Formats: sequence, structure tokens, C-alpha cells
Amino acid sequence: MKKKLLGLLLASTMVFSLAACGSSSDSAKDDSSKDAAATDDAAGDSAESTGKKIGICMPTQSSERWINDGANMKKILEEKGYEVEVQFAEDDTAQQVSQVENFVGKQVDCLVIASIDSKVLVEAENQAKGAGIPIIAYDRLLMDTDAVSYYASFDNVGVGRLIGNYIKEKKDLEAAKAAGESYTIEFFMGSPDDNNAVLLYDGIMEVLKPYLDDGTLDCKSGRTSFEETSILRWSQEQAQSNCENILTAYYAEEDLDIACSAFDGFSYGIKAALQGAGYTAENWPMVTGQDAEVMATKNIIDGTQTMSIYKDTRLLAEKCASMVDAVLQGTEPEINETETYDNGVFVVPTYICDPVAVDKDNYQEVLIDGGYYTEDQLK
Ligand code: BGC
Repeated sequence: MKKKLLGLLLASTMVFSLAACGSSSDSAKDDSSKDAAATDDAAGDSAESTGKKIGICMPTQSSERWINDGANMKKILEEKGYEVEVQFAEDDTAQQVSQVENFVGKQVDCLVIASIDSKVLVEAENQAKGAGIPIIAYDRLLMDTDAVSYYASFDNVGVGRLIGNYIKEKKDLEAAKAAGESYTIEFFMGSPDDNNAVLLYDGIMEVLKPYLDDGTLDCKSGRTSFEETSILRWSQEQAQSNCENILTAYYAEEDLDIACSAFDGFSYGIKAALQGAGYTAENWPMVTGQDAEVMATKNIIDGTQTMSIYKDTRLLAEKCASMVDAVLQGTEPEINETETYDNGVFVVPTYICDPVAVDKDNYQEVLIDGGYYTEDQLK
């Protein structure tokens, strides 16, 4: 570890962009609780069946968020009177292709797809289009196809910026730069077949690249490009083994100060690698993450993860469900992004939700007071 700033403690109490986060979280919270209330009301008088079937394809049950996404979507769509079937493909692309094909065979009325690798789904999506089945892309953009009608997600570049800015502000990189000091950092980025992972990396580098260039951030492995740091299928095991290898090869003499992780699952692997390498509370690095899973939030509380990105999947499911309604009823859903999400064929009309950075200072307000988790779940 190079000269550390004495003001570190001070810096860690500095407000990063919680004011901004707070306001977006408040609005997300407000929106979602309104939406939840609306859903409850609707449930009361709308349980009448529409006679329509919705097929939902989720990537995996290995991560908590997708289980919640699947459950939220099913609940909301059933409350709207749809028959819903959710399939998980356990990160197996061939399995996801056959799940989409099966839904086409069953003649569902609409498909919602959170893809594993959307490039391999193009042919199956064409089959859906040929059968007149509209498709909504859920959280991950479906690339290279004109068969998708709408896309609902979070601001993925924004997720990267939140992570980058958290590091920048909590480590006070400007002060470190002025003092000629540096922090060591390593990157653990998302799956190369997931468009979100690229956008997230871009958002991180938009903030951190200047500090890598001027030496304020010192990446000893030299692995800073997306290609060098991306981890196929968001594998926790691969993140752990990458971290173990990096610690052994580059951090024998000096501690790692920052593990810039794009996913809570990676952060669990990084935690295990750090423990294996003998890191303790004394020299534990800043560890970032994404999804604010229950386990990640517990780790934030006990200090083995520093922050995560909260994505209110209730809100996402609500917005996506309203897209399903719209395509089936021939109406226009709410869209707030019509320029950014080009899938290689066209710019897909999108609804983007705001992500929020959470750490030990605001998890109570954002996650518990916001009704996402109960206090008991985090014990
Ligand atoms: C999602 C993230 C998630 C990751 C791994 C991404 O596409 O946007 O929220 O952490 O996949 O499952």
C-alpha cells in the first residue's frame, strides 16, 4: 500500500452523491410504492382473466436478482389477468433458445426475455415474429433483431458512473492526485455477451480513466480493458479465481486497495479470495458490487463489501408489464429513452429506471425504509 491519505477517514464520511442518489431513490421509491399500490388496487377488481398467455425467459436462478425479477413479473402480470409461465435457463444459451422456441410452439401471446447471450437468440426471435408474438427485452437489450418491440432496463452507463464516482469520492482521488499519492485497483467486469456489461464498463472508465492515466490509480496487473477484465456469464467462481491469481502474482508486496467489481456475485468470490490471501479488517480493500442482493447487503453491514448498486426490480417489472399491456392492446407504453439503445438493427424504444448507490450509510433508508428488504432479512 502506498502512502495513504491521513484524511481517509474524513473522506469516508464525506457525502458522495447521495443527495443526487437520494433524490432519484426517493422518486424510484415513490414511484414503485405508488405502482405497488396501483397493482394492489388492480388486483382487487382485475383478477378477471384476459385469456392471454405470457412467456417469460430469465437467464439463471444462480443469482438472487433474477429469481426476484421472475417472481415480480409473474405476480404483476397475473394481477393484470394474464396467465404467466417463467422459465430459467441456468446460463445455458442452448437451453434458453429451446425455451423461447417452446413458448413460440405454445403460442403465447407475448414473450419477455432477459437474455443470456442475445446473439444466439436471433433465429428463435424470428420464429416468434413470424408467429405474430411480440417480444419485450427485459433488463438486457436483445441485439441484432427487429423482432423486439420495447426494452425496459436501468441506466447501465449510469450504474458504471455511480461505481466510478463512489471510488473517486470516497477515496478522494483528487486529493490523492494533488498529493502525488496512489491507490492500487483491479477490475472485475461483466459478461462480454451482455450489452449491459459493456455500458457499465464505459460508465466506470468515464470517471476513472483519467486517474489510471495519471497514475493516481495503479492497476498492477495492467488489466484495464473490457476484454481483459470481463468475466463470461458473470461467473462468481471465475471472479474468485481471477482475484486469487491477481493477488498472488501482483500483490505479494503491496495490498490491493480497491476491487472494482461489477456484480455482487463477483464480490462474494473476491471476498473469498481476499480471505484466502489473509486480508483482515485492517487492510480490507474497498469492494464494489451491483444488485444490492441480501447477501451483499449483509456483507456491506459487516464491512466485507463496501457498496452495491440498488436496482428496484419492482419498478422494472412494473414498467415491463405495462409494455406487455401496450403491445397486446395496441396502445403506447411509457418510454423515456429513444436514442441510446441501438441493438444494431434499430434504436429500441426504452424505459430506463434509475440505479442508486448503497453503502452502510444509506442502506437503512434506501433498502429497508424503501420496503425492498425487511430488517429481519438482513440479520
Ligand atoms: C444486470 C445486472 C446483473 C448482471 C448479472 C446484468 O445484465 O443488469 O443487474 O448483476 O446482469 O446477473
